[in-house]
Amino acid sequence: MALRPDVPVYCFRPDVLKADARRFMDAFPGETAYAVKTNGEPLVLEALAQAGVKTFDVASPGEFEAVRAVAPKAEMLYMHPIKAQSDIRLALERYGIRVLALDHEDEVAKILRIVRALDLDPGGITIFVRLQTKGSAAYELSKKFGAAPAHAVELLQRCHKIGFKVGLCFHVGSQIEDPETYERALASADWVRNRADVPLAGLDVGGGFPAEYGHDPRRKKRDMPGNDEIMTRLRSDLSEYGFSDMPLVAEPGRVVVARAFSLIVRVLLRKGRRLYINDGIWASLSDSWTGKITLPARFIPDPARVARNGNPEIISAFRVCGATCDSVDILSRPFWLPETVDTGDWIEIGHIGAYSLSLRTRFNGFYPDTFVEVTTPFDAGERAEGFASLETMAD
Ligand SMILES: Cc1ncc(COP(=O)(O)O)c(C=O)c1O
Repeated sequence: MALRPDVPVYCFRPDVLKADARRFMDAFPGETAYAVKTNGEPLVLEALAQAGVKTFDVASPGEFEAVRAVAPKAEMLYMHPIKAQSDIRLALERYGIRVLALDHEDEVAKILRIVRALDLDPGGITIFVRLQTKGSAAYELSKKFGAAPAHAVELLQRCHKIGFKVGLCFHVGSQIEDPETYERALASADWVRNRADVPLAGLDVGGGFPAEYGHDPRRKKRDMPGNDEIMTRLRSDLSEYGFSDMPLVAEPGRVVVARAFSLIVRVLLRKGRRLYINDGIWASLSDSWTGKITLPARFIPDPARVARNGNPEIISAFRVCGATCDSVDILSRPFWLPETVDTGDWIEIGHIGAYSLSLRTRFNGFYPDTFVEVTTPFDAGERAEGFASLETMAD
């Protein structure tokens, strides 16, 4: 209220981040490699390193450098299956990365060429073969990456024959919507392991662990167990399929960082049932838009506005338009807010730490970059009466 911010403000909660990271690390029976793409801000990586995260899943030179800058001793796993040759060289030569993923024989050839050029021993390098999976998630990653099981067998054997250490990895999709999805992936990994018949140096179960978001109160809540139960099932499936005795890795993103940030946006203008806000799909809100993710929202009325229309107890749907001059910058799903919301008010959107800051662009000259540190968790504040991004509304 004192600042009356006119630009979007990220509220960072380091204690929440550290607690969520520790909860994951305590529950997962292997190494936790935080997926930097989810939110690679230096303050996030620093807090995670302080919480005891020692391994990071990276995909680009920008991410190698971001991790190196805050955690020089941390191990980096280069889990992007399709990499530029110059980036592979940088990873191996400058950053000392020794774990890489792939899903195709041409990538084996690219890596091998650089390993030979640098005169490295392939036996000091672990190649994780990425396996395609089938599941149900807000984002299906196997549409883009992963070898089919028989192909994965061939890739494991090829890498083993060269002298690399080999492992298997998969990513069941981000924000899973089906608790059986890890079991299906493990069954497939088991099949591949048996056919390949080569010693496995590890299994990486990827990300996908769902973050806590809001849900539409008018609809039946999706029948998803919480993360504690998902992890209990995963541990028992790992043991059932005989993977629990080998080195295990997970690459969580959302579940670690979602609760650590909220975002305060301002209503620049109310036009009928439309709200024009100072953020949007080119800034922090593309993930909730494309992933159909419902976020909790808290209405913060501007006390300077004396006259208001409507009943503050009635929550209704508003079409939300973003900050840019672009007509695509309209959220396809409405925000639900008290009817009285108006020009100059603020909305605090909770649990928005994942794929928000990392996806913002400089399009049209807008780039939210204001941070404050907050100690109270979003849910411990005043009741959040609204939602960002519920089911589609008619115009
Ligand atoms: C290779 C890789 N690892 C880990 C993650 C993190 O996944 P999540 O945020 O679902 O935990 C992603 C996200 O898409 C990914 O592509």
